[in-house]
Amino acid sequence: MQLTVTNALCALALLSLSVTDAHMGRGFSMPTNDNMAANHLRRGLSRRAQPSNAQEMASANDAKVECEGGSNPAFSQLLKDYPKADKIASIMDGDDQGRKVWEDIKSQKIIPNDVHKKATTDKEHYEFSDEGYDADKDPDCWWSASTCTKPKHDRLQPDVSECPLPNSWGLSFDDGPNCSHNAFYDFLKEKELKATLFYIGGNILSTPLQAQRGFAEGHDICVHTWSHRYMTTLTDTQVFAELYYTMRIIKDTMGVTPRCWRPPYGDVDDRVRAIATALGLRTMLWSDDTDDWNITPDGKSPTSKINSNYQNIIDQAKNGSLDTHGVGVLTHELTDNTMNEFIKEYPKIEKAFKHVLPLSACLNATHPYPEDGVSYPGATAYIQGSRANGLPPMDNMPINPSSALNISALDQQTSAGGFSTAAAKASPDSGEETGKSKQGNKSTSSNAEKKDDNAAATLDVSVTLLAAFASVIAAIVVL
Ligand SMILES: *[C@@H]1O[C@H](CO)[C@@H](O)[C@H](O)[C@H]1NC(C)=O
Ligand SMILES: *[C@@H]1O[C@H](CO)[C@@H](O)[C@H](O)[C@H]1NC(C)=O
Ligand SMILES: *[C@@H]1O[C@H](CO)[C@@H](O)[C@H](O)[C@H]1NC(C)=O
Ligand SMILES: *[C@@H]1O[C@H](CO)[C@@H](O)[C@H](O)[C@H]1NC(C)=O
Ligand SMILES: *[C@@H]1O[C@H](CO)[C@@H](O)[C@H](O)[C@H]1NC(C)=O
Ligand SMILES: [Zn+2]
Repeated sequence: MQLTVTNALCALALLSLSVTDAHMGRGFSMPTNDNMAANHLRRGLSRRAQPSNAQEMASANDAKVECEGGSNPAFSQLLKDYPKADKIASIMDGDDQGRKVWEDIKSQKIIPNDVHKKATTDKEHYEFSDEGYDADKDPDCWWSASTCTKPKHDRLQPDVSECPLPNSWGLSFDDGPNCSHNAFYDFLKEKELKATLFYIGGNILSTPLQAQRGFAEGHDICVHTWSHRYMTTLTDTQVFAELYYTMRIIKDTMGVTPRCWRPPYGDVDDRVRAIATALGLRTMLWSDDTDDWNITPDGKSPTSKINSNYQNIIDQAKNGSLDTHGVGVLTHELTDNTMNEFIKEYPKIEKAFKHVLPLSACLNATHPYPEDGVSYPGATAYIQGSRANGLPPMDNMPINPSSALNISALDQQTSAGGFSTAAAKASPDSGEETGKSKQGNKSTSSNAEKKDDNAAATLDVSVTLLAAFASVIAAIVVL
């Protein structure tokens, strides 16, 4: 039998995820080596051709094939360069570039020294404890304790939580790429809907071709950390590595550097915000939560409950309460069930809301990445039907392991406003940005002002648990 890392990756991608409640503890069962070996054997016998680029993967219509992850010569280098998909990231041995970036960030003295790491009640950091924290004073602007979104330390911008455009649904999906998302992405394409996709780094490692599809089809890509843990419970270096390696694998697979991130479970404080800021990432939360991650049968909420959560958000568009601003809704690309739920609800959303648009368009972020070449429509242009320019063809998207991130460029953008600054950058292809730049420093921060009271306290939960690559490889070798 041929032993390739690609095959190991495929075996991994087959493993299922487990959804658990943020507060209820979260057991998960690791698939046994025997199961993985059996999967591998079955595949070996069927000798199915594996998709080798994003185009081929996008045309796959068998979830099994999709979830095997495809095959591409660059995958094995990715596996060497990155932390394991389910593991809390730390700076990789021998990653001089990463270490240097981290040293530079520390020397900027942006990380406040009076904000401490929060307690976790399990060593995998799938829990946190706010015992003993003064949530009323909330000196750390810790969202999990207080839903605070306006930092209390210098040099940090307010979080973005909603779409500022009146009567609008700010569209985003968390926890992707999901391996079997083709039908869902086909739906978005058919409806000409673009969304902001908050991708998990470990998922990109497992299914890079799926991630490439998201970018190539004109969605805008943001970071959702490497391993989806409670970020405030991690050390400074871990927080850095969780963000940095996710940014870098996006650069490796899509050629662009993201400038926005959403903390898993909304768990962010000024220490975590500062490290994100130093990396050029704007923190994005949400104003309204569908709780879709918890939908049955993977979760515990009956579909009727999730339907009514959607309905409550939709109803806001009917009585004038969204005449001055829109909503930023938390929805997930987590399982077929969360994706199908959106598909089912969309006709109602489309009818009730004036506009459904990605956060980049909501914020006029016409250049959401520092690289030249790719531009996105602002709000007006999006509504008029414009979509992103300069995207790569899906059948020819390189994977360039070990791409260098241009952190000096990020520094400049961070100090000038990160994701929201992109809005002020003039774009040759749409008139609206001219007006925007005249507004000078009137940035999107004003939009973030009203959300403390309505940010849902429910936490966004979902984790993809993939077995350690090493044990998969070991299992195959035993065979
Ligand atoms: C509008 O409807 C929403 C959702 O039903 C409700 O939460 C809100 O209070 C209503 N606002 C007004 C001004 O009636
Ligand atoms: C994607 O969705 C499928 C079907 O619901 C699920 O089995 C799989 O675990 C999900 N997660 C990932 C990371 O693909
Ligand atoms: C990094 O960004 C800066 C500022 O935009 C630019 O001058 C420089 O050429 C870039 N370096 C690389 C290697 O792309
Ligand atoms: C985006 O641009 C439009 C058109 O210039 C403007 O009306 C709107 O206020 C801008 N939105 C933000 C969040 O800056
Ligand atoms: C820009 O910000 C400065 C300092 O916060 C303020 O004094 C000035 O009025 C602002 N300018 C505009 C155009 O908003
Ligand atoms: Zn999430």
